[in-house]
Amino acid sequence: MLDGCAAPGFAGGMSEPTPDLWQRVDHYLTRTLVGEDAALSAAVDDQNAAGLPAIEVAPVNGKFLNLLTRISGARRVLEIGTLGAYSTIWMARGLPENGRIVTIEAEPDNARVAQRNLERAHVAHMVEIRVGRAAEVLPELTSEEPFDLVFIDADKESNTIYLDWAARLGRPGTVVVVDNIGRAGEIADPASTNSQVIGTQRGLEMLARDPRFDATALQTLDRKGYDGVALAVVV
Ligand code: DHB
Ligand code: MG
Repeated sequence: MLDGCAAPGFAGGMSEPTPDLWQRVDHYLTRTLVGEDAALSAAVDDQNAAGLPAIEVAPVNGKFLNLLTRISGARRVLEIGTLGAYSTIWMARGLPENGRIVTIEAEPDNARVAQRNLERAHVAHMVEIRVGRAAEVLPELTSEEPFDLVFIDADKESNTIYLDWAARLGRPGTVVVVDNIGRAGEIADPASTNSQVIGTQRGLEMLARDPRFDATALQTLDRKGYDGVALAVVV
């Protein structure tokens, strides 16, 4: 019933966002505004076939990253957590021809899948995959020009470390995006014992308290479930 315009459930105006409803809306928005071409679909197919976790951003979220890249006029993007390069492709498509992405991936197997996906999408010439633990790779980037946009989407336990590097490798005006800041609502549980949730909470608290940032965050409900995205600027 994903395509059913006259499906029941809308008569009362406001509906509770049941999974069926939010999946329907996600497909509607994706179909209406985003689309997904062969290179992006193949990137996800290959990622799944290679056994990588299906935790790439939703298409609506990929398009959001693409628009942020363009709106900010970014030429240099830093991504922490490549996975299969699905989000990387979306951001690369928002860059000018001389644009560049450095994307850091801890798993060599993921990086191989990502490289093939970037080549098929004809953006590999703009993207350098750095294989290694981000906490070890990031200090190697200090000699480079500042980054205009940083997308943090890796191990959540390290979010404060990644935010610190985003500020150091950025400049005033650098856009910082942090994925997965909602975690199905668990983010609001101060008693959570989930290390990913705790890492995400510490990251949000850092965005609030650290004078290098000004930030907000939005809850998201899409085909990946109930989560959220933080948006910050380096002051
Ligand atoms: C997980 C990580 C992600 O980056 C994501 O988008 C969804 C889930 C995870 O580790 O569970
Ligand atoms: Mg993520």
